[in-house]
Amino acid sequence: MAENRQKALFVHNIGELWTAEGLRAAAGPAMGRVKKFRDTCLYIEDGRISAIGEEARLRAAATAAPTFDAEGRACVPGFVDSHTHFIFAGWREDEFYWRAQGIPYMEMHRRGGGIQKSVDATRRASLEELVRLGKARLETMLSLGITTVEGKSGYGLDKETELRQLQAMDELSTVTPLTIIPTFLGAHSIPPEYKDRPREFLAFLVREVFPLFKKRGQTPFVDIFCEEGVFGIEDSRWYLEQARAAGFALKLHADEVKPLGGAGLAAELGATSADHLLKASDQDIQALAAAGTIACLLPLTVFNLREPYASGRRFIDAGCAVALASDLNPGSCYSQSIPLIFALAVLYLGMSIEEALTALTLNGAAALGLAAQTGSLEPGKDADFLLLNAPSPGHLAYHAGMNLVHSVFKRGILVWQNGNVLGPARI
Ligand code: NIG
Ligand code: FE
Repeated sequence: MAENRQKALFVHNIGELWTAEGLRAAAGPAMGRVKKFRDTCLYIEDGRISAIGEEARLRAAATAAPTFDAEGRACVPGFVDSHTHFIFAGWREDEFYWRAQGIPYMEMHRRGGGIQKSVDATRRASLEELVRLGKARLETMLSLGITTVEGKSGYGLDKETELRQLQAMDELSTVTPLTIIPTFLGAHSIPPEYKDRPREFLAFLVREVFPLFKKRGQTPFVDIFCEEGVFGIEDSRWYLEQARAAGFALKLHADEVKPLGGAGLAAELGATSADHLLKASDQDIQALAAAGTIACLLPLTVFNLREPYASGRRFIDAGCAVALASDLNPGSCYSQSIPLIFALAVLYLGMSIEEALTALTLNGAAALGLAAQTGSLEPGKDADFLLLNAPSPGHLAYHAGMNLVHSVFKRGILVWQNGNVLGPARI
């Protein structure tokens, strides 16, 4: 299903269309340079954007194509959520309320709750159960306008369950229109079997689990939770060097709780992205910019943990390419509210609405190695786009926390539509 393509489609009466441009991440000032079209049309051939422009100019080429009336709605690229942990079993709502009373996130981790609680539940879950849970979450994603998503393993911490999480994503890829990019996050926590022996656990992953994932050939990234009390800098460097040598691209959960220097390590190793970054130093932020490592900020997690936000402005002004993602997971952030991400980015991360759009589309795609294929609306790219219940994409942050998505197209196929909206002909 994921490879289905709309043969031809002419979308007309688009109010405003905004898109970032390019085949790689936009960094620094380029993040705000979003192209804007007014009263425009999209012509799609073979699931890809063929042309964008005025009706009078495009119509002639598109005479045979079926027509879709956007009724004045705004249009943006489909959102790319480049950091999630959406395959897991069990819940941790109790921790949410404990945190609200002031118990720190890492305290639950130390007490053997936290990630380990989700590991226990996920180890008990069958493949069918993980697929069923994942499918429901993907349906919610579509309704939010997410057309490409990353999903991390990391709730198994053993060979069988890590593989089962990846198998669940494989299976889901055949039934969902979303593109799913799996990441191997076996180094998410130290399981009780390896208590106080992080290097031995990492060596086990390298020796026994990497080859399985390499054989599958469908897991481009290896990620690690580099954090005090989990995997330190030296263990992380060693592990990621092994991953790189095995042919994986790299991601890091870096500098989230303690300033360990994970962002600097990500830059040093040429990682594709460094994620979280609440405590990253100025020097390491500059290193990320110089290395072209994408800074992936996760404001919904910060909202849930009630920490100070990582300033998107600081990263962009230093010349970084910033991506924004949800971090959907059962512990620190059970939210995938793209509308809230837009609002937080503009109100608390110091980003313009244009920068936030680039961060959730083109730069998200780049963080998954997909910028040449999706993340912007340009001839040759996949026709992954949304129509919004608003005349301009400028409403995305302004309708704070409210879903504006009217319809979702993946490779030109209408894959989701808000059935409740009857809507005026022109909004
Ligand atoms: O990105 N920080 C580590 N991993 C996740 C949380 C996972 C969990 O609590 O289950 C994160 O926030
Ligand atoms: Fe995460």
